[in-house]
Amino acid sequence: MIRLAVLAIAGLSAVAAAQSAPRAGQAGAPPPAPAASTEERARSVWDGVYTEEQAKRGETVYRERCSSCHQPTLTGGETAGPLVGATFTANWNGVTVGDLFERTRVSMPHDRPGTLTRQQTADVLAYVFSANKFPAGKTELARQPELLKQIRFDATKPVR
Ligand code: HEC
Repeated sequence: MIRLAVLAIAGLSAVAAAQSAPRAGQAGAPPPAPAASTEERARSVWDGVYTEEQAKRGETVYRERCSSCHQPTLTGGETAGPLVGATFTANWNGVTVGDLFERTRVSMPHDRPGTLTRQQTADVLAYVFSANKFPAGKTELARQPELLKQIRFDATKPVR
């Protein structure tokens, strides 16, 4: 008698499974698109906008072209200000990386302005970003102004 009941229950659940099968098939539908806000959110220097390898290349540029005035530690000298720390990041807070890029490309090195290529400028900024503890990512910092203008320079990590 007990065995019969078990069989009956097993039979019932088999029917239930068969009935739910078509519904399970719908689970193959594409997942909902990510919320628009995630994509529209502006990128900032906290979003991994350069690579570690690029920062290494930039370090070489820095040693050869910048450290004589800004010091090997980036902390600045008599006339050249620091390129690391709160004073530096406060100076650039709220502008775009495009602005910092153009400023550097046009006016630095101070003794030979305009001699850096766009690539060298991007690389040296990658090094400056790593020194300021902005995280590295998977794509290199671009050379194109239209892309650099889309990246905000935020002194502190935005709360999201
Ligand atoms: C001959 C000395 C000298 C060299 C070499 C030099 N700088 Fe400068 N840098 C200065 C001086 C002086 C200032 C401040 C005056 C000015 O802004 O023109 C400055 C300012 C800056 C600023 C603006 C800082 C701020 O907080 O506004 C940046 C960024 C900068 N330098 C980056 C660089 C980079 C990157 C290099 C190497 C490619 C470099 N500099 C090489 C002397 C130098």
